[in-house]
This record gives sequence, structure tokens and C-alpha cells, in this order.
Amino acid sequence: MNVAAVVLVFLMLISQCKMEEEKSTGFPVPHHGFAELPVPDDNPMRPEAIALGRKLFFDPLLSRDSSISCGSCHFPEKAFTDGRSVSIGVKGRKGTRNAPTLYNVAYHPYFFLEGGNPVLETQMLGPLETPEEMDFNMVELTRRLEKHPEYPSLFAEAFPDRTVEPYTISRAIAAYERSLLSGNSDFDQFYFFGDSSVLSKEQLRGWQIFKTSCTHCHSSFTLSHFKFENIGLYEHYEDYGRMRVTRDTADWGKVKTPTLRNIALTAPYMHDGSMHSLREVIEHYNQGGKDHPNKSPLIQPLNLSDTDKDALEAFLHALTDVSIN
Ligand code: HEC
Ligand code: HEC
Repeated sequence: MNVAAVVLVFLMLISQCKMEEEKSTGFPVPHHGFAELPVPDDNPMRPEAIALGRKLFFDPLLSRDSSISCGSCHFPEKAFTDGRSVSIGVKGRKGTRNAPTLYNVAYHPYFFLEGGNPVLETQMLGPLETPEEMDFNMVELTRRLEKHPEYPSLFAEAFPDRTVEPYTISRAIAAYERSLLSGNSDFDQFYFFGDSSVLSKEQLRGWQIFKTSCTHCHSSFTLSHFKFENIGLYEHYEDYGRMRVTRDTADWGKVKTPTLRNIALTAPYMHDGSMHSLREVIEHYNQGGKDHPNKSPLIQPLNLSDTDKDALEAFLHALTDVSIN
């Protein structure tokens, strides 16, 4: 076989794989820089299921006193965060953690700060049952939805052969969450489409700083490697973080690295919402964080000038999806 023939066969194989990839999910992702959407076999991305999941997500019937919905703490216009330091659930009960963005949540290998749950379908049991959030449960929710004038027929359309049941409730919500994709920022135009004209000179300078100091952890198209890191926010952490799962003190204060996509829309920042502006975050990294035995060795003083800090901040604004709002 000559070289051209080998190349041709190779190309045919790749294009075949590509077609299979598209066939296997059938759900469009923002652009070529995104990996194929991970979709479990038992919960295909059917439009009827996604629409039902959306309705459930924004329905306060999911809380015990019908006062709050998932969307009460995950607002679409704030990239599915709530603008509060820590979330407030039923009867004004305060939680201890900041609500994270749900965009691109399909790509997370596990959920919550400590990564205690690897399955999106079961994640919703957390907020549903937590007393400081919805304070409800699947059994009573199922009964409530069964008696509802609209839901039973919507479930029948979304899941032929099944009924209103925990299996279908959790799958509909997870399908909707997987459909929340965001990849239309100036950064995407610059990085994945090679158009540097969309970034200002200042933002390009900020990108250089970001590339050197931040992409060890805020990496890939998700802008997170999703590993657990302690960034020296405190000398003493109230929140155990990853240690809640491992029971190992070496994991105290380590939390799942958050994405930085849409970061300008999701203040306040950090797991407890303790930082109110991007500038405050940049000052934290510039100082190299506080002393903590578990602090990542990557967190070191950066010695940035004020111009550098401005540039880094300007770059972080280029991560906002221009199609939100
Ligand atoms: C009272 C406010 C509140 C309500 C209501 C709420 N959430 Fe959340 N959500 C949060 C907070 C706070 C966190 C972070 C919790 C943590 O890491 O322990 C979170 C985390 C999540 C995560 C994990 C994201 C990640 O990065 O790991 C998902 C997914 C999620 N919520 C979906 C939902 C769904 C679905 C509902 C409705 C069934 C819901 N939330 C209801 C506040 C809320
Ligand atoms: C060692 C890994 C690591 C490095 C390096 C790193 N980060 Fe982070 N970043 C994290 C983790 C983990 C958190 C969450 C910490 C927490 O909530 O306790 C975080 C949080 C953030 C947040 C707040 C996110 C939110 O949704 O609240 C911003 C903004 C941020 N980092 C920007 C940066 C910038 C800018 C740099 C470079 C100067 C950087 N990070 C370097 C791991 C890292």
C-alpha cells in the first residue's frame, strides 16, 4: 500500500469514528473544542424529557412548602448561581455553601464541593432532602406530581412505558441539566477559533498571566481539571471539603476546582461566597494565599503589578458567554 492509501484508510477510520460519536449522543455541543456530551445509556437526551426537566427545575412544588424551586438558587441570568454568599432555602434557612454555576455540569466527573456524588441523576436528592434547601423527599414529591393536573401526561410523553416515579423525575431533571451548555465567549473565539481580534491588548496580556499561573487547575475547555485543591483561603477551614468523603485530614479544605466560565456573572466567589469581587480573588492569588498544611504548592506569590492585575481581571471578563441574557 502506498502512503496516500494508508492516509486515506486512516482518514476514513477517523471520519467513521466521528460519525459514530455524533450518533451516540445526538446532542450538539457548542463547538469543536468541547468533548462529546457524556450521556448515560439509560437517559438519552430526548427533547420531551429535557422540557419536562426544565419545568420541574423551575417548579416550587419540589420544596416541602412549595416556596422554592431549583431555579430559586440557580438563576439562568447569573449562569445558574444565585448572587448570594450562601444559599437560602425554605423558611429562610441559610446553608453554608455558595451555589455553583450549572453550565457544562454534564462534564463534571462528580458533584458537590467534596465530589461525594458521581451521578447527576441522583445529585438532585441532595437539595431535595436537605433541610436548609427544599426539605422534601422523593416519596412525597412523587405523590404530589401524580395528583397534578398536567404532570402525568408530560411524564407519559417524555418516558413512554413509565410513570411519574423517582426514576423518571430524576432523569428528566438530569437531562435538562446536561442541556445547559455554554461555550460562546470571546475566549472561545480567541482560543478555539484563532481570532485574536476579539480580545483587547489588555486581555491578551491577561491571557499570558492566566496561562502561566492559572491553567494548571483551571484548564481544558471546561476551565477546570475538577481535582480537589486547597488554595490557602484560610489558616483554619470551617468546611472540611474533600475530607468529608475521605476522612483524611490531608484533604481538609480541598474542594473541587470550579470552572471559570462566566465567572464575571457568578459573584460572590469561593465555596463560602467570602470574596465579593474578581479583584479580591486576584489579590488572594497574588499574595499566594494563607499558610495551610494542605495548600497546593502551585499557589505562590505572583508579584503582579497593578497593570497586570487589571489585565488579568479584563481577561476573566472574556470568559462570559455573550449569548447569556
Ligand atoms: C437553597 C438553594 C438551592 C436549591 C433549592 C438547589 N440548589 Fe443546587 N446547589 C446549591 C448549593 C449551595 C450548591 C453547592 C453545594 C455543595 O457543593 O455542597 C449546589 C450544587 C448543585 C449541583 C452541583 C454542582 C457542582 O459543581 O458540583 C447541582 C448539579 C445542583 N446544585 C442542581 C440542583 C437541582 C437539580 C436542584 C433542584 C432539585 C437544586 N440544585 C436546588 C444551592 C441550591
Ligand atoms: C492549585 C489549583 C489552582 C490554581 C493554580 C488556581 N486556582 Fe482558582 N481556584 C481553585 C480552587 C480549588 C478554587 C475554589 C476554592 C474554594 O472555593 O475554596 C478556585 C477558585 C477560583 C475562583 C472563584 C471561582 C468561583 O466560582 O467562586 C476564581 C475567580 C479563580 N479561582 C481564579 C483563578 C486565577 C485567576 C488563577 C491564577 C492567578 C487561579 N484561579 C489559580 C484552584 C486553583
